[in-house]
Amino acid sequence: MPKTPRHASHDGFLLPLGFPVEGFVSGLSYEAQASDVFVSTYPKCGTTWMQHIVWLLADGGRPLRADQRMTEAFPHLEEVGRELVERRPEPRLIKTHLGFSLTPHHPRARYIWVARNPFDCAVSFFHHTRGFVQHYDFADGTFDDFFECFIDGRVDFGSYFDHLASWGARRDAPNLLFTTFEAMRADPRGVVVEVGRFLGGAFEASVDDPAVLERVLAHSSFASMREDQQRWSSARAADAPPFVRKGEVGDWESCFSSEQAHRMVAKLEACTAGTWMADLWSDTVERARSR
Ligand code: A3P
Repeated sequence: MPKTPRHASHDGFLLPLGFPVEGFVSGLSYEAQASDVFVSTYPKCGTTWMQHIVWLLADGGRPLRADQRMTEAFPHLEEVGRELVERRPEPRLIKTHLGFSLTPHHPRARYIWVARNPFDCAVSFFHHTRGFVQHYDFADGTFDDFFECFIDGRVDFGSYFDHLASWGARRDAPNLLFTTFEAMRADPRGVVVEVGRFLGGAFEASVDDPAVLERVLAHSSFASMREDQQRWSSARAADAPPFVRKGEVGDWESCFSSEQAHRMVAKLEACTAGTWMADLWSDTVERARSR
């Protein structure tokens, strides 16, 4: 029997066991404000990395200190619920993994949507799931087990492909900035500047100040975010992979069988055919096809 990670289900929506039902229900009722900044992602697509970039831009390039927690500074809406988010000073910085239709909207709030190719996302999600033993009871699960769950959407926050389609349909909204994990890897400076210009105000002032911009880039680098990892997540078993793990594009190639690669291509193509996303990860798709 393939092993399946444990989840909590709220009306069929899968969440990690540690997420209280009340937080999820109250989070959905949050009323977005004009000054809000949302980082909207499917899990493992570079959420924490983008959160730290936004945090650094908001605060003159000062990183989250070793004794601070991202979950408090930049709360995850559907984990902590609306009351905790409402207590944050404006502009509120808010993380969400919700699809577009469940995400609270305000026409002037800003939404930064980061997507990642589903191949690397699945591998990263696998390591995440086996690492948080207390949530998932999946320490001895295999990638093959996890792949079946991922491709069917039987994972936290549901289907990768539904999430991609739901945000992808809104790409042209003026208050939405779209970027990818791959773009952040290829040109971190370009993405940081883009984010600062999109958010404006103090965020933009940070990218216009060369010394601050250098600090933002240094503290959001992989090497820097590998330090003091208690900032990013709750505790993991000592032998579990760290939260900031490899940060690579193409890690999937060592995990996927050719059959899995072809199935992922088919699933991605079915989701993106005829849309602007059809060629989004064409290099990765080509490599997967040739397996
Ligand atoms: P890997 O598991 O492939 O290494 P999320 O925050 O959405 O959970 O995403 C986690 C992924 O982002 C992990 O991917 C993690 O290593 C990667 N990541 C986090 N910070 C990063 C950084 N500064 N540079 C590159 N990758 C980073």
